[in-house]
This record gives sequence, C-alpha cells and structure tokens, in this order.
Amino acid sequence: MQLFAPFELAGRRLKNRIVFPAVLSNYARENRVTTRLVDYYAERAAGGAAMLVTEGLSIHASSVPQPNVATVFDAANFEGFQRLAAAVERHDCRLLGQLWHVGRQQLWSPVDAPVGVSALPDAYSWSVPHVMTPEEIAVVVRAFVDGARTLQRAGFSGVELHGGHGYLITQFLSPWSNARGDGYGGDGDGRTRFVREILAGIRAECGAGFIVGLKMPGDERVPGGIDVDEAGRIAARLALAGGLDYIAFAQGNFSPSLEDHTPDMHYPPGPFMGLQKGLRERARPIPMLALGRVLDAAHAERLLGEGVGDLIGMGRALVADAALPAKALAGRAGATRPCIFCNVCWAEIHVGKPIACIHNPQLGTPGEAAWRPAPAVGKRRVIVVGSGVAGLEAAWVAASRGHDVTLLGAREAGGKARLESLLPGRAEVAKVFEFQLARAREAGVAFESGAPATAEQIVAFRPDAVVLATGSSMRRPSLSAESDAGTDAWRLVVGLGAAPGRRAGTAVLFDHDHGAGVYALADLLASLYDRLVLITPRTQLGRNVAYVGLLGVYRRLYRAKVEIVVAAVPKRFAAREVAHANAFTGEERTIEDVALFVYATPRLADDRLAAPLRARGLDVRLAGDAFAPRAMLAAVHEGHRIGNEL
Ligand SMILES: Cc1cc2nc3c(=O)[nH]c(=O)nc-3n(C[C@H](O)[C@H](O)[C@H](O)COP(=O)(O)O)c2cc1C
Repeated sequence: MQLFAPFELAGRRLKNRIVFPAVLSNYARENRVTTRLVDYYAERAAGGAAMLVTEGLSIHASSVPQPNVATVFDAANFEGFQRLAAAVERHDCRLLGQLWHVGRQQLWSPVDAPVGVSALPDAYSWSVPHVMTPEEIAVVVRAFVDGARTLQRAGFSGVELHGGHGYLITQFLSPWSNARGDGYGGDGDGRTRFVREILAGIRAECGAGFIVGLKMPGDERVPGGIDVDEAGRIAARLALAGGLDYIAFAQGNFSPSLEDHTPDMHYPPGPFMGLQKGLRERARPIPMLALGRVLDAAHAERLLGEGVGDLIGMGRALVADAALPAKALAGRAGATRPCIFCNVCWAEIHVGKPIACIHNPQLGTPGEAAWRPAPAVGKRRVIVVGSGVAGLEAAWVAASRGHDVTLLGAREAGGKARLESLLPGRAEVAKVFEFQLARAREAGVAFESGAPATAEQIVAFRPDAVVLATGSSMRRPSLSAESDAGTDAWRLVVGLGAAPGRRAGTAVLFDHDHGAGVYALADLLASLYDRLVLITPRTQLGRNVAYVGLLGVYRRLYRAKVEIVVAAVPKRFAAREVAHANAFTGEERTIEDVALFVYATPRLADDRLAAPLRARGLDVRLAGDAFAPRAMLAAVHEGHRIGNEL
C-alpha cells in the first residue's frame, strides 16, 4: 500500500503517509500541558500515525482564547512539552507543534485585548481588533519564531503555522480581512509578508532539518476572500520564497463557510480533494498534506493513488480510533472504530469541555490505542435488554470480557440510531451500531429477538446481572383537550420508510428536541409536503447541534424554503389547523391546511422492567435513555462503562 510507503520532510523520515492534523483537545488546564494531553498524543503515535501536529498552541499573550489551550510562551510549560515530544517521538512518530495566533477571532469568550490586521469585524463574533502597528507585528513575528525555537529545544521535529480557518495568518493573507495600506497589505507580496517573515525567522533560528509546514485557506468561500485561484497564487509565491516543507489547505473561515472546515456527514467523503489536487500543482515543489473528511485507510489509499497529496491528514478519524493505521497495516481495517463525522468532538471543545467522541469512550486515556476489554474476574450470565447503541455497547464489552451475554432486542438492531440513519444525510450514524454489532458477534453475544422482553422471560434465564437499555419514548406535547394526537417523530420515520412519496398540504414539525436528527427529518418532510413549518419554543434552532453543523442545518432548511417560527408553543391541533402561542407574549397564531403535525419532544425513560426485576433480587443496571433520556454519546459511554463494570 502506498499509504505505508515512507516519506521525507526536511530530511526527517516519516514511516508512512498518515498524519494526525491539529485537533484541539481542551485537555490543557489553566493553559498548562497536562498528563491527559500527553496521553492523547502518545496514543495516536502508538496507533501508528507517522506524524502528529499538535492542537493550536498559543504563541503570545494577545492570543489566549481560553484556559484549555496550552501556551508556548510560558516557560512553565517547557517540561511538559519535553514530556510530550519524548512520548510521541519514541514511537517513530514525528511531532510538530501548531503555532497559533487567533488575531481578531473570538470563538470563545473575548480575549482581553484582541489585536488584528485591520479595523474590520470578525465574521463570527463581530469583534473589532486593535490594528497592529508594524512594531507590534514585529513582536508577534518574533513570538512565532520563539515558539518554534522553544519547541525545537523541547524535542519536537517541527512546527506548523496555523494559517487556516480565519485566524491571524489568514487575516493577513486574505484581501477580505486585510485592508492595510502599509507593506503588510495590498498585493500578494504585501499580504504574504507576515508569513514570509515568520518562515525566514524560523529557518534562521531552527535550521534546515526542522520541519516547517503551513495550513492555509484553499477557499474561504466569502466574496472578495481567498478563492481557489488566490490560494494557488499565494501557494506559488510561497513555493518561490522557499522555507516550507509542506503545505495543507483548509476551507472556510468564521463566516457561514466555517461549515467547510470540518465537513460533517452531510458532505460527500473528501469533499475538497479535487480542489486540493489542483492546488498541489500550484504549490509544487512543496509536498502537500491533503485533508478533510478522509474516512478510513482505504479511502486514504485511494486518494494517494489519485495524486491528491503526498501525505493524508485524518483528524476526526484518528480521534475515533487512534489505532486506525496499525489496524490497517495488520490487515484488520474492519476492526477500526469508524468516525461518523457528527462533529460532537467539535461541539464539546467549543463549549469549553474536554474533547469527546461518541463511540470512543477511551479517548485520551493511557493505553487507548491498544485498548481491549479486560478479562472479567468471574464469568457471569448477563442479560442485556435493548439493541440500541447503549445495549449493544454493554453487550459487546461484557462478552469480550468473558461473560455469557444474551441480548434481547428488536430484530433490527440500532434502536433510535437506526431510525436516524434512515434520514437524509444521516446514513453514517449506522456505522456506530454496525461496529458494535460486529464486535458483539465476534465476542459471541447470543441474540434473541421477538416480542418485547417480560420480567418472567428475563428471570427464566437465571441471570447474574441484567442491563436494561430499553430506551425511551417521546412524550405528547400538552395540547388542548379537543386536539388530535399528532405523531411522534420516530413513529413517523418508521411509517415513512414503508410508504415514501409526495404528500399534499402542510406539515408542521414541533421541535422541542434540537438534535441533528430532527433537522434531518425536516429535510425529509420538506421534500415530501407542499409546505413545512418548523416551530420551536426557543428563540433559535439547534441547541444540541455543533455550531459548524448548525450552519448546514440552516442552509438546508432555508434552501428548502422551510418556514421557521421561533418562540412558538403549540396549543391545539384540530380541524387541519395548528394553533401556537408566542412563548413570551402568549399571542396566538394558526397554521392552516395542516396534513401532518409531528413532534420531537423531551423523552420518557422506559425503565418499567427495573422494579419487578429488582423485586426478585436481581442485579439491574440502567443504561442510556432507560436511565435518563440523553444524546447518543451518553448512551454509548454509559453502555461502555457498565460493560466494563460487570
Ligand atoms: C475538534 C476539532 C478541533 C480542531 N482543532 C484544530 C486546531 O486546533 N487547529 C487546526 O488547524 N485545525 C483544527 N481542527 C481542524 C482539523 O485539523 C482538520 O482540518 C479538520 O478536522 C478536517 O480534517 P478531518 O476531516 O480529517 O477531521 C479541528 C477539528 C476538530 C474536529
């Protein structure tokens, strides 16, 4: 496989072509390197990647976006960086630190005193920075160079300049954000001066054998910004100037095009590979790191064959499974836990929490890459009730530990996740339970399906432990007494599967859930009905969708002409009319010609088997929605914990 052919950057050997690009973990605390941060990278190195780029490391006090970002300029971190470099490089894996200055960009809470290129508002926060003087620019250039030198002394193989996604380097490079009249603005020469000064400084201080890469925009997708042509011109200019060992292209900036920088499951695989292949030609002879929704090793191999890049970046795929390279190399690619590109990882870090992955509960723990369920002390007979993602996870983990596990569930496994996977753009959700099912079969879980399990049936197994992963159901919204019932969203999906086809009239979707699945249902209903009205009690949509994904949600809803009514509480559904009241004023409005009223609402746990089983003295654990209705991450992680505890 070409994927496992070695490569060379700055005279340093990469054992294969797989690179883990920068993925902020939020594992730093009070801007300090932590053991968990070191483990997160050490495990990705142990898993077989040839090169890791750390998450963005802040290079200057004017760029500390939040306390979970490690700073390079603070000497107190030096020992931590040394530990990090040693932990990664011992796996014959090159470690690069990503040097990061946010500039005007204020994704988290505002930094104290934002500095930037021009007095133009950031597209996300609308904050306007202090415009740096040439002297202040020189200080930041120096900080980049000092950062590189610090990391080199700590044992890193190189650095990557974070020039993508709308941060400070992008702000200089792009005519959309750079309106300077001095030598740092204007034409391509002026706009690239900042990054060229940094490159020259790093080369002068760190020498030729130190890898220096640049991540820069391939297409900002804003009018007047860096488009593909301009990206090609910038890359060609930088290639001529020299000093770069590789280049990577990222998409979007903090406008609505931000969606492109971590394309989710609604995008096709490798959506920007054609664009990157073209840019590779412009950047020659600089080697190229191609990235963006690369699914797995086979996909990466295909992309290399197509000449898309010299190296392949896999960020989220390696978050989901650090051992993806090792498994592919050993011919066990099928055992890789696949990323589903749900962007829950992105959502977690952007609310300031440590990174988390829906179906990698071991993320960032020591031994993650080689993790196997630990053998149980004594074999137990375990009954798992429910074949959704919580039950399947508990079942395969418990069975892998040596327990005798029988799973009582529906004929088609996957529960609510299976229903979600039937909706437009959500097919990849199925990879979660398909992975679990494969592991459960390998581990010898016995499956019994049929009518819902009863307490008597469970007791007849004489189990040592019972895991109830019986899920939840949607509660009916409280409508006035004379109302028709309406339909719950999941029941509707089952029904639509049986009878798809266009329908006359208006559909009203009551969104009291705000998860990604509801908006995929909206996409479907908009394509089936004459008109779709989406009503929600909040003042905006998508509280439970990552901001990057929410951009796509809005894009699809607006394109499909879905009418969005916020601050709306449904009151009545009768005589083909839905009446709803404003959540603040109570003012009522009606929607006419309503053929369908469907709701997605806070759910009710189905835990009815718990009491009768406990009354018979059984050890009963509740997993997932059956404990408390929550998102898929909680269900998988809880099933995992219980499978390990039994
Ligand atoms: C949770 C998360 C954090 C990220 N943090 C960074 C970062 O610190 N610096 C950066 O350049 N890119 C960051 N990215 C973008 C990735 O490096 C990469 O460009 C993007 O995820 C597309 O690659 P993938 O599809 O292989 O994940 C992040 C992406 C995610 C999902």
